[in-house]
Amino acid sequence: MPLRHVTLHQLRIFTVLARHLNMTRAARELHQTPAALSIQIKQLAEYAGAPLYEQVGKKLFLTASGEAVERAGRDILRRLESLTQELDAHRNVERGLLRLAIITTAEYFAPRLVGAFCQEYPGIEVRLEIVNRDSILERLKQNLDDLYIMGQVPEGFQGTAYPFLDNPIVLIAPADHPLTQATAIAPERLAEESFILREEGSGTRMTAENFFRERGIQLRVRMTMSSNEAVKQLVAGGLGLSVLSRNTVAAEVAAGDVAILDVAGFPILRHWHVVHRRNKRLPAVAERFLSFLLRDRSLPQS
Ligand code: PGA
Repeated sequence: MPLRHVTLHQLRIFTVLARHLNMTRAARELHQTPAALSIQIKQLAEYAGAPLYEQVGKKLFLTASGEAVERAGRDILRRLESLTQELDAHRNVERGLLRLAIITTAEYFAPRLVGAFCQEYPGIEVRLEIVNRDSILERLKQNLDDLYIMGQVPEGFQGTAYPFLDNPIVLIAPADHPLTQATAIAPERLAEESFILREEGSGTRMTAENFFRERGIQLRVRMTMSSNEAVKQLVAGGLGLSVLSRNTVAAEVAAGDVAILDVAGFPILRHWHVVHRRNKRLPAVAERFLSFLLRDRSLPQS
């Protein structure tokens, strides 16, 4: 029988026997009978093609072949042990690396959630990419991160998306705009206003466009900006109205720079999603962050 049939169990038994040089003591350590041990070692010797020990009275002596098998056995078992430790480290949530990419509009709340997660797991490392929609979709395609946070999930998306937070989309105006006094404003009334919208392809913009398109309303888009901050400044400066995620305007509304209008159909209720590729093997730390997001549904207070 060739040596490759040797089992780890036999090697383990033999290394214990080689340490004790006594069948009874080795059997005791292994919680087996001396007879059971002898059978395994006999088979190991057959695989090795040579006797592994000699018995003189009660005492055992390893043969040269036995010493060689014992050395190899110890190496193999040690290697297996270090492999176990290495794999444990990969599975270990406490020391893992979390690779996360979020859409820019999520930067108003997602870093705080990451911060709260890091406080629970101080040993982990986080690599957070904050990118626009095109980049996030490209990163997803290239499998560059473990998890993604975005608002609108692309149509026909082939992965898995979990809604985890509300993302109300609001209509904002300069604080001194006459419509701030009105209630239940008809969306049609807004066709007379100028708008500053996010860029084509932005999830926020798509939500606004769908809302007005479904009602047959054509908005007058005066400016297009790829930054929520720029949009808010222009609205505050009186250049027009806009539609943004409420998560992005909390500070300006509180400071009285812009106001949220009471338009019928608004806020448009959307969600933030945490997303991964289908069949993605998530590292333990990413699994844990995912359950953390799904558990912690309320926005941490700023
Ligand atoms: P965006 O983000 O408007 O920056 O694209 C919101 C979303 O993902 O829907």
